[in-house]
Amino acid sequence: MKVTVVGAGAVGASCAEYIAIKDFASEVVILDIKEGFAEGKAMDLMQTASLNGFDTKITGSTNDYSKTANSDIAVITSGIPRKPGMTREELIGINAGIVKTVSSNLIEHSPNVIIIVVSNPMDTMTYLVHKTTNLPKNKIIGMGGALDSARFKYRLAEALDAPISDVDGMVIGGHSDTGMVPLTSHATRNSIKVSEFLSDERLQQVAEDTKVGGATLTKLLGTSAWYAPGAAVSALVQAIACDQKKMFPCSTMLEGEYGLNDICIGVPVILGKNGIEQIVDIPLSDAEKAKMKESAEGVSKTNGLLEL
Ligand code: 2OP
Repeated sequence: MKVTVVGAGAVGASCAEYIAIKDFASEVVILDIKEGFAEGKAMDLMQTASLNGFDTKITGSTNDYSKTANSDIAVITSGIPRKPGMTREELIGINAGIVKTVSSNLIEHSPNVIIIVVSNPMDTMTYLVHKTTNLPKNKIIGMGGALDSARFKYRLAEALDAPISDVDGMVIGGHSDTGMVPLTSHATRNSIKVSEFLSDERLQQVAEDTKVGGATLTKLLGTSAWYAPGAAVSALVQAIACDQKKMFPCSTMLEGEYGLNDICIGVPVILGKNGIEQIVDIPLSDAEKAKMKESAEGVSKTNGLLEL
């Protein structure tokens, strides 16, 4: 199993590290345009192998896509991260050109690759890959909901004063500060609805804190987060690489599902060896349906900024 991670920045390097530590891939190639940067990150990570106990071979490449040839899965993290006060959508001008070039280069050397898009604005970048490549829709996956759901579970556990392992919850919709839809009606603590434990007001606060989870960290860190994004995308890579048939909210091209067409937005999917193996239709409350519709309108508006 060969995995390429494009972008040796904090998110890409964290993703590569988590993949290596989980030790399910034979090889991880990290690629970056900055001279020597990916090679340095790869060498540093390889020097943890004896300490962290993995055999995965990590190599780096300065913009030589021949080193990524025959990758099974490729993760696109390249592009600029946001600064405090910026929205993810403001990154489109620079990141769209990068993602278009990167996806084309990846497919040239790995025609059967499954691409996972992380670069922001992620839903629109995922849509861009659909519109500028011939990859089948099951092989183009946007990572946002897995990260947002992890933040949702963090906030739920905090509100419940419960261990995170007792909590479950999912966030669908656009990966944006305003467009996320935390499914508070479905969230549980040990299979019991969290609404049995939390007031509507507290649950609403959990949802609001989840939606700005990325912006909260960007304000604290001065740049976008990387540990949870890296961990979230590594979980998607593992589900595909190990054919786990796990359910995650991922940005995928919708063709009528959830009443939406010609848009990539976060919905529950089953991930396995073929990438997106099923889009799962779940019951939504009227309020959740309305939020999803509003979220889709925001993503479509950002898609309209693309020069396709
Ligand atoms: C985040 O929410 C980078 O979009 C990513 O942290």
